[in-house]
Amino acid sequence: MNSPQSPDFATKPTLHGELVTLRPFRLDEDAPTLRSLLQDPEVGRLTGSDHGPTDPQPWSEHDEERMRAWYGTRNEQSDRLDLAVVDRETGSCVGEVVLNEWDGDNRSCNFRIALAEPGRNRGFGTEAARLIVGHGFEQLGLHRISLGVFAFNPRALRAYQKAGFVIEGVRRDALHYDGAWVDDTVMAILAPEWEQHRGRPRL
Ligand SMILES: CC(C)(COP(=O)(O)OP(=O)(O)OC[C@H]1O[C@@H](n2cnc3c(N)ncnc32)[C@H](O)[C@@H]1OP(=O)(O)O)[C@@H](O)C(=O)NCCC(=O)NCCS
Repeated sequence: MNSPQSPDFATKPTLHGELVTLRPFRLDEDAPTLRSLLQDPEVGRLTGSDHGPTDPQPWSEHDEERMRAWYGTRNEQSDRLDLAVVDRETGSCVGEVVLNEWDGDNRSCNFRIALAEPGRNRGFGTEAARLIVGHGFEQLGLHRISLGVFAFNPRALRAYQKAGFVIEGVRRDALHYDGAWVDDTVMAILAPEWEQHRGRPRL
């Protein structure tokens, strides 16, 4: 049986949109934004990393080491693509976008994104999703890109829909947050869909 050629995740592209550029991380330059993302309780809640409100903690040496170990090695990964989202107007990093969980047999990946507060609600998320998803289909040869979005995040759901992700179903009560159960909506986009609308579906 033919197995499709493995995609080239090791080459980290720079992808230009109208509002944002996606590029490989530059740790020293991007660190302030990455620190703020990791410290932001809203990001912890919306990404399902936290299970309830947390008191702000001072940024420790250990936090700094972990952040540097993680983001300092993203450009070396050969089975996933992590890129900084950069505001074209200021040239500053405003967040990150990721294709991970590569499944070679099924040519699929998971998608995730997190923007720091100054980068939100300005169309950046929608454009960043279009850019990396387009790269995933057109350069990496993916067939399917999927994600999960929690019920308390209608902004993310809307941005994903605008970029062409389609709701497939709901993982009920998938997250326990602050004493309440929260549904997780599964969304995905397929290569033939991308070919039709290139991230601009008729909604
Ligand atoms: C989710 C995220 C990537 C979206 O990116 P963004 O740049 O803020 O979103 P955009 O500006 O591209 O699009 C947001 C859309 O949602 C709409 N929207 C905003 N708040 C909304 C709300 N409370 N309910 C419904 N729609 C909402 C906006 O009006 C816009 O739609 P429109 O262009 O049709 O008017 C970004 O906000 C983010 O990173 N948030 C924090 C972390 C997070 O939620 N990560 C995703 C976890 S699944």
